[in-house]
Formats: sequence, C-alpha cells, structure tokens
Amino acid sequence: MRDYINIAVLVSGGGTNLQALIDAQSSGILKSGKIKIVISSSLSAYALERAKKNGIKTAIVSKNDFKTPEERETELVKIIKENNIDLIVLAGYMSILSGNFTSLFDKRIINIHPSLIPSFCGEGFYGIKVHEAVLKKGVKVTGATVHFVNEIPDGGEIIMQKAVRVLKHDTPESLQKRVMRLAEWKILPQAVEYVSKSILRKGV
Ligand code: GRF
Repeated sequence: MRDYINIAVLVSGGGTNLQALIDAQSSGILKSGKIKIVISSSLSAYALERAKKNGIKTAIVSKNDFKTPEERETELVKIIKENNIDLIVLAGYMSILSGNFTSLFDKRIINIHPSLIPSFCGEGFYGIKVHEAVLKKGVKVTGATVHFVNEIPDGGEIIMQKAVRVLKHDTPESLQKRVMRLAEWKILPQAVEYVSKSILRKGV
C-alpha cells in the first residue's frame, strides 16, 4: 500500500485555503495526501507564490490561452494524468467544470464553498456575493461546506460542514473573513485528509 495519494489543488486567487492545506501538511493533519501540483486559472494568483515558496510545482491553465472551454479542460486532464493525480481539490477555483470533466473524476474532486449548502449556493453564489446574500436574508447562522463535485454547481455529496454565527454589525467582508478563519481553513484540511485516507484504504 502507498503511504499517500497525489493531490492537485486548483486555485484562482489569494490561496488562503491552499495555505491551510500546506500548513496541515507541515503539522501532520494532512498525511494521507500530498500536494503534488497547484494549477491556477490566473497568472497573477497569489496562490502561485504560496506554492513556489513551499517548493510545490505549479501550472497555469488560463481561459485566455484556449479557444473553447473544452480545450482548456483537455489541458487540465492532461496535466492531471501526467502527474498521477488521485484527488483534485478546488480551493477558491473560479471556473465551473463541465459534466464531461467531472464524470472523469467521480468522487475525486472536492470543493470548499463558503455557506451551509443547500443555502446560498449554486450558480451566481461565489466569493463575496455569498456573504452579501446571507446578510440580505438575515440568517443568523452561516458557515462553510466541503463537498464532492459533480455536474451540478455545488450539488455533489456533502463531506463536512461547520457553522459560523452571523453577528449584528457584520459586513460582507467581516463575515467572509470569519467564515474563512473559523470554518474554511479548518474543515478543508480535515476533509482532504478524510477523503485521501479513504482513497488510500481502497488501495489506489
Ligand atoms: C474562499 O472563500 C472559497 O470558499 C471560495 O473562494 C474563496 C477563496 O479564497 N470559493 P482563497 O483563494 O483560498 O484565499
């Protein structure tokens, strides 16, 4: 049996969730999986710097470099196969993956979403928009969800969730920060370890 599986982390922005995974690797919370490559949809994503600082290989698969989404996904598949990736983690990845792509990696793609699914999720609910909608609705509890990715945006099986209280004077920005700190950065590494361990057990 192998000691760990190979993970690809897909990013588009600041990469604080990627950092949480890197830190979890250093502290031993994440031990059944190892980040082999970070793939960014944007050349300017700070997540790429975080990867480089930690000696992790990087690749850029940007919309601008391909004529069609299909061609872009073909390139993604090529990189994933070349690197023998067992698990794909979407950590602030801003592109929606097609059903063709997700069906190639059934129960092998996970995503972190900054709300308690099934609330405030699906098309149009991303980044700060999620927290704006939470405050507009006036719910008193929000949180984050880690789930498997299938052809339905934010529709795959739920793996882990953590609730966060909405405070009276919250702004979308203050809420976003607290959801990241108290929920996302905690459950993403735990869920990645949980899924990696179960893939290892199945003898991949
Ligand atoms: C996070 O809130 C994540 O849940 C969402 O995008 C944000 C990415 O932040 N999908 P970062 O790039 O990990 O800092």
